[in-house]
Amino acid sequence: MNKLAIDGGTPVFQPGELVKLIPVWPPAYPETDRKLIDIHHSGLWGLCGKYEQLLQKEFAEFQDAKYAVWMCNGTTTLECALRALGVGPGDEVIVPGITWIATAAAALYVGATPVIVDIDPETLCIDPAKVEAAITPRTRAVIPVHLYSALADMDRINTIAKKHGLHVIEDCAHAHGAKQHGKGAGSLGDYGSFSFQLSKLMTAGEGGCLTTNDERFADLVFRISHIGNSKLFPEEPLQVGLECHQYRFTEFQAAIIYDQLRHQPENRAKRQAAVKIITDRIADIPLVQLQKSSYDDDLRDYYFLAFLLQEEHLKPGVDRAWIFDALKAEGISIGTGWGHPLYKSVAWNVPQDRYVKHDTEVCENVMYRRLMASLHAFLMADPQVIARWAEGFRKVLLAATK
Ligand SMILES: Cc1ncc(COP(=O)(O)O)c(C=O)c1O
Repeated sequence: MNKLAIDGGTPVFQPGELVKLIPVWPPAYPETDRKLIDIHHSGLWGLCGKYEQLLQKEFAEFQDAKYAVWMCNGTTTLECALRALGVGPGDEVIVPGITWIATAAAALYVGATPVIVDIDPETLCIDPAKVEAAITPRTRAVIPVHLYSALADMDRINTIAKKHGLHVIEDCAHAHGAKQHGKGAGSLGDYGSFSFQLSKLMTAGEGGCLTTNDERFADLVFRISHIGNSKLFPEEPLQVGLECHQYRFTEFQAAIIYDQLRHQPENRAKRQAAVKIITDRIADIPLVQLQKSSYDDDLRDYYFLAFLLQEEHLKPGVDRAWIFDALKAEGISIGTGWGHPLYKSVAWNVPQDRYVKHDTEVCENVMYRRLMASLHAFLMADPQVIARWAEGFRKVLLAATK
């Protein structure tokens, strides 16, 4: 085996080399340039222009839903969904312990109490058994997150929700284009919330979309996010006292997403091919396991490429921190995603009496000991670059294995 770079050997990538080999994310498509210039000169920069209207139909279809309501980001979509459901003070909303703060903050924004529960150790998505155990007479909704593009177990979550009369809002911020049993994310539960923030697999810098099959709900969410205006039933009066906001999307964002939608399948295929190169190369090494999706037939993508350390295979004296350092010396950057479970994130500046946290042993174990994750952009590099990455990963993993 080649000598490790951390021990003075030749690194797989020279310092700063890999970054230069990764295409810029997000990609700039020539056809989008033309659209943006046309919009710029048209004066029609917002207020549900041509591309937003097209996306209301096409993105909904892409996720197998009937309606898609566009907003300024994927936090407001969650908040508006809860508001439209009448969730508020005294109500509880169940969320997973590993997610971005928005999933739980949305409950706080409507005055409800987020209830944080543990995750499944293999999919890293909310554990359905823990959802059921956390239900109280105050529980109104559950927000499963398709974490890092692995899909939550929607069969079990929907069964539990039905039994207890709960609403299911899928947080699909990482799951554009994903499917479970052939059906699109965002139409598996009752409602789907998508983010188009800069790091996401589809992005307009910022942006959000709420998907649903329920016409009345789509209209209500539209009203709540568009200062009371209705798209589907404009002749009907606004419900007195309905708290509405100005959370609109722009036509520039819509044009960018319109083109990305057309490129999404090819981009996903490229990421899937890259993951196959990597997982094939380390298939004989039991030290790490790829984050699983809930079902074998899940059509998934990779917002983060996430591996879980199988600590029983670690060489004595070696831990995850050593692996990170050894990879860094090889010119490969890998980390722990957000670094902390939701409730320990610096951005979670919430007093303890405003939320409930159940036992989150798996979240802690995953975040602080086992997770090794890398954001998706590098997966768009050429296969030769990915093969070198895989070689470096293999080299370090073999050295860390007992
Ligand atoms: C799981 C999850 N939910 C919701 C959001 C919120 O999306 P936005 O940043 O568009 O408000 C994000 C964004 O990072 C996220 O990762």
